[in-house]
Amino acid sequence: MNAFHIRPAVGPDARVLADMLVEASNWNPVRSRTRVTVLEDASVRRYIAGWQRPSDFGCVAEDARGVAVGATWARLFPANEPGYGFVASGVPELTLGVYPPWRAQGVGRALLRELARQAAARGHARLSLSVERANFAQRLYVSEGFVTVASGDDADTMVRTVR
Ligand SMILES: CC(C)(COP(=O)(O)OP(=O)(O)OC[C@H]1O[C@@H](n2cnc3c(N)ncnc32)[C@H](O)[C@@H]1OP(=O)(O)O)[C@@H](O)C(=O)NCCC(=O)NCCS
Repeated sequence: MNAFHIRPAVGPDARVLADMLVEASNWNPVRSRTRVTVLEDASVRRYIAGWQRPSDFGCVAEDARGVAVGATWARLFPANEPGYGFVASGVPELTLGVYPPWRAQGVGRALLRELARQAAARGHARLSLSVERANFAQRLYVSEGFVTVASGDDADTMVRTVR
């Protein structure tokens, strides 16, 4: 098992977060798009556009040399422009990704736990997300306390309480 540590995400992490947004969007290799195409997609780009707003928060996992290996962050969306995992205007929606060589080593779970801690510290009661049911990540979310609150054709909206 390779060692990693987790620190709060900051403004200059925009590039890492963009990488992780691309990983999340491209979770299914059969439907993979180029980085440029993913980030040109307005429905995806809005998860990081203008990072870091005052209400944005997140964390980055780094290896022993301080190189980012994964990240998660949460953002509030307005009801008239909801994210895919929108449940209410005050509930932050998270995005999660880990660089492929670092997967299945506990990074994703550790990031989710730290994000929940951050959310509670900011006074949030819940976190939400959207996940396609074919993505094994849904099992990770269930094991971290997320429950399905709405379902589309292929994806579920999930929520967990954080305090
Ligand atoms: C989903 C993702 C963030 C999980 O991060 P990770 O660091 O690989 O996850 P962890 O190592 O913490 O593993 C969490 C659990 O999932 C399991 N798991 C990991 N990789 C798996 C795989 N390929 N298939 C099935 N289960 C897997 C682990 O065994 C672990 O369960 P356990 O604790 O009971 O053993 C990561 O795989 C990823 O970046 N995927 C692509 C982007 C993505 O899908 N993001 C989410 C979009 S909603």
